[in-house]
This record gives sequence, structure tokens and C-alpha cells, in this order.
Amino acid sequence: MKTESATEFQNKLALQLFGTTNEIAVHSHLLKNKNGMQVEVITYGATIKSLKVPVKNGKLIDVVLGFDDLDSYIKSYDLPSAPYFGTTVGRYAGRIHKGVFSLNDKTFQLSQNNNGNTLHGGFVGFGKKIWTVTDITADENPSITLSLLSEDAEENFPGKLQVDLTYTLTEKNELKLEYKAITTEDTIINLTHHSYFNLNGHDSDATDQVMFINSDKILETTTEGIPTGEFTSLTNHDFDFRTFKNCPSIIDNSFVVESKNAVAAKLFSQKNNLEMNVYTDQPSVHVYVGGNCFTLLKGKENTDYHPSSGICFETQNFPDAPNHKHFPNSILKKGDEYVQKTIYKFQSL
Ligand code: GLA
Repeated sequence: MKTESATEFQNKLALQLFGTTNEIAVHSHLLKNKNGMQVEVITYGATIKSLKVPVKNGKLIDVVLGFDDLDSYIKSYDLPSAPYFGTTVGRYAGRIHKGVFSLNDKTFQLSQNNNGNTLHGGFVGFGKKIWTVTDITADENPSITLSLLSEDAEENFPGKLQVDLTYTLTEKNELKLEYKAITTEDTIINLTHHSYFNLNGHDSDATDQVMFINSDKILETTTEGIPTGEFTSLTNHDFDFRTFKNCPSIIDNSFVVESKNAVAAKLFSQKNNLEMNVYTDQPSVHVYVGGNCFTLLKGKENTDYHPSSGICFETQNFPDAPNHKHFPNSILKKGDEYVQKTIYKFQSL
């Protein structure tokens, strides 16, 4: 039987061309469910470019920050503090202290792209890679699978890593993210999704929305954002979100998530009566509002983004886990499979 080539398969999927970089095509694909909810995914970084949710009065609200064109996504990485709008972060989300870790009695020095530390996988993380679309389904729960081969020693991580990420838009208005990865050598891994959410629309301010986080402690970090190994109790703390409070205008912290079944975090917009619920099987949700270069950013539809335009809920393992024995395991062994599932569920109340 004649086997289909990767190119033939890609052509059959009828993807839209989004742009070209170094003569490589970047595609986009729109998933739509029967309720009118839509998500647009681009192959550059397996990035979510827009996420449109129906609210009362039949309006569709684009609840994530993004750019209109490929060039803006590429150029955003040259900013003093790259925003990683809507991207897939890997091989290791968050910081690794001095970019060093040991595995099987060998020490690895990763690329130091952030004040001498490794942040979000190094200089060329997964958000800058062009992923390949390997599957699309078009039923009532439409999905797209994007795949990436990260070569052995890329950014000095050991092992050739094969990653598959499936985005599914369910009929219950959930955006489901399922990651899988295998490696040719023992390695470390921590994948996450970096959308900035704003339930009033991407051109609004997130600080007038309220949030809930099902967590009683955050990771203690140094001023550089490196975990000390200790935890800070949230009792009587400004970041105790166990009851709904307004989104802060600056936050960059990892909240410990104990239960895999309960909701990890919620965001609510009174204006649109819209709630987002975050579910994850990961041990933490890293919450980020800030963006110290946002004043320079022209976003989708000619929007001027500012530091509190959106809030990230990055479900993931703890930053720097490879250097703390009491943190959850971050090692993926050859022959094992990394799996992660996160759901962002939207409800018009
Ligand atoms: C993560 C980091 C932040 C910042 C953002 C992207 O949330 O912890 O310090 O790098 O990503 O800009």
C-alpha cells in the first residue's frame, strides 16, 4: 500500500496559510463547536491565536491576547521580556536555576537565556518552533493534534523528545489540552500553555475581574523568581484567593494544587457574566500578570496591550523541580510516557 507522505497529509487537512518564515509555511486552523465557540491555532509555537466564547446577547468575546500576523509573533521574542502570547512552553516551563541540573550522575548546563537562568526552555523554546499538524477531527468535539520533534541536545537538554499536543473544543465549551511526550534518553520535561486571558475581551483590563485559586500555599522564590525549596502559606496573605478577589496587577507565582479532581482556578467577569474554570492534573498553576514591555505591544485588531491586559494560568510542574528532591518528579525516562491534561472551561452564567 502506498503510504501518504507528511506533505500530502498536511495538504489534505486544508489548513489556512498564516505566514512564512525562512521559506517555511506556518498554518492556522479554526475549531468551532455547535455553540459557536471558536479557537484558532497556529503551527508557530502550537499557539492559540484567538479564543472566542459566546456570551449573552449572542456576542462572541475573544478572551485571549494575540497578534494578527506571524511577524509580530516572531518579533515578540526580541522584546526585553518576551510575552509568549498563547504559546506552548517547553521543554521546561519556568526557571531552572543557573540552567544546571543533574540526571543519572551527569550534570547538564542548559542555555542561560534569563539572567543566567534558563526560562521556558532556553533561547529557542517550543513556542518558537513550527509544529506539524498530525491530526484533525471535525465532529461535535473538534480537535487538532500538533507534533514536534525536539532534537537531542537542543538547548542542551538530553534526549530526542517527541511531543504531541491535542487541542479539543468540546460541546460543553471546554478547551482541552492533552500533551504526550516520549524520549530517546532520560530527560526532564515541564510543558505548559501561556495564554493571557481576559473575559471582558482581549482589549480590556483583567484587574476588574475576580479570581479564585484552590491553593493554600505558593512556592517561595528569590527576587529572581527561583524557588528556594520552601513554601509560603497563604493564610493572611494578599495572594490568598480561596475566596474570590480581584486579579492583582502584578503577580508571578506558582500556586500548589493539591487536588486533581477539584477546580484549580476560576476567573469571572461580571460584565459578561462569564466564568472560566481551570482543571489540571499538574501539581501547580503558575499565575502571571505583568509584562514589563507591554507598552510597546500592538496586538490584534490594533489594540495597545498594557501590563494588565491579561492573566496567565500556566498549569505545570514546579519551576526548578529538577534541583529539589522534594518537588514532584520532572524526569521523563526513556520508555515512559509523559502525559498532561488541562481544561479551560467557559460558562455563561
Ligand atoms: C512566566 C514567567 C514570567 C515571565 C512570563 C512571560 O510567567 O514566570 O516571569 O517570563 O512567563 O513573560
